[in-house]
Amino acid sequence: MLKQGYKSKAWNSPQKWKVPVLALLGISLFLILVVFFLLKSHNDGQQSSLAHEVFKQRWNIFESSVQLHPTREFRNGTDLIWQIPKSPKAVLFLAHGCNGRAVNFWDQSPDCPSCIGLPEERLLVLHGLARGFAIITISSLGRCWTFGEEVLIGNDIIKWWTNNKKLEKLPLVALGASSGGYFVSVLATNVRFSRIVLMIAEGMFQQMDIEQNYPPTLFVHMPKDLFRQQKIDENMEMLRNKGINVSVIECKEFPLSSNVLADRIPGLDQTISAKLFKLFQMKGFIDQNGYMRKDGRTTQWKKALKESKNFLLDKRLVPHIQEELNLAFAYHEMTSLHSDQIFKWFESHMN
Ligand SMILES: *[C@@H]1O[C@H](CO)[C@@H](O)[C@H](O)[C@H]1NC(C)=O
Ligand SMILES: *[C@@H]1O[C@H](CO)[C@@H](O)[C@H](O)[C@H]1NC(C)=O
Repeated sequence: MLKQGYKSKAWNSPQKWKVPVLALLGISLFLILVVFFLLKSHNDGQQSSLAHEVFKQRWNIFESSVQLHPTREFRNGTDLIWQIPKSPKAVLFLAHGCNGRAVNFWDQSPDCPSCIGLPEERLLVLHGLARGFAIITISSLGRCWTFGEEVLIGNDIIKWWTNNKKLEKLPLVALGASSGGYFVSVLATNVRFSRIVLMIAEGMFQQMDIEQNYPPTLFVHMPKDLFRQQKIDENMEMLRNKGINVSVIECKEFPLSSNVLADRIPGLDQTISAKLFKLFQMKGFIDQNGYMRKDGRTTQWKKALKESKNFLLDKRLVPHIQEELNLAFAYHEMTSLHSDQIFKWFESHMN
């Protein structure tokens, strides 16, 4: 009776559907899991290929092909630092962000004793020189770039320098990061760039009249910065509607490991790199996969370093480490990781 009742409940009552539905649910769940693991391994693949990219771009990859011999000059109340490779094929103007200076782009050397050589800046310069770009960097007059007289000064310096070096016939391109990106976006209405790259910057397009001959523009941005992402989307749409070519490269976060800092920072050895990584793990600055939990600027890593008795770190390397931590978090930082794509994009418009 009980059995019967059970049976009839299972098969003859409205709950008859239960078994096929349960089977279907089971199959669906299985499929969902399969898809999840496929996606996960796909993502892991992407992440490890990005980690591979980071690893491939060691600070000394250009050691045998490019030597830095920059020249530093003073003009219009600021300094410019430049280098021209053998048979240059184009000119690249590089603009730093707030708190940046021209000296950040070049390694310290007898040619430039006060140069600092931040890891991303110096690699951008090296990539450029290796591909035949003459490089000119200028310091902003104040902490950040301004968009009045400073634009005229930038224009004057670039014109004077390219004429003086007989480079005025070559294609002229520019890359600016953050405040430098705003600056380049405005400078492009004065100077005839054939292409510009705006890195982690949406540009000053709300404040300018853009004409049809505005140069093709590549946005290199970090989509974690949602607010800026939104503005970049709007500006890309506006430029496209005016018939101006736009492209975009998205920069994603990557995990730290015991060797990332040594790989990317000249003068930071493997032992210190591994110790720093361990300290960051211990302090919970990075998650179990090596990703920064917060932006480097808001991570108390310098305090942790001071408190740790385990260290002899050259203080001059602090800004270099800071930059790589910001870059690994991928919210707002200068990056050279996409140099190949960036320079290919510059070159694709030169013939
Ligand atoms: C920059 O310096 C040059 C040479 O001294 C000068 O002729 C030019 O007017 C200056 N430009 C600006 C915008 O002050
Ligand atoms: C935009 O870029 C494409 C591909 O590089 C090119 O074919 C096209 O001519 C460009 N258009 C303009 C307006 O520059």
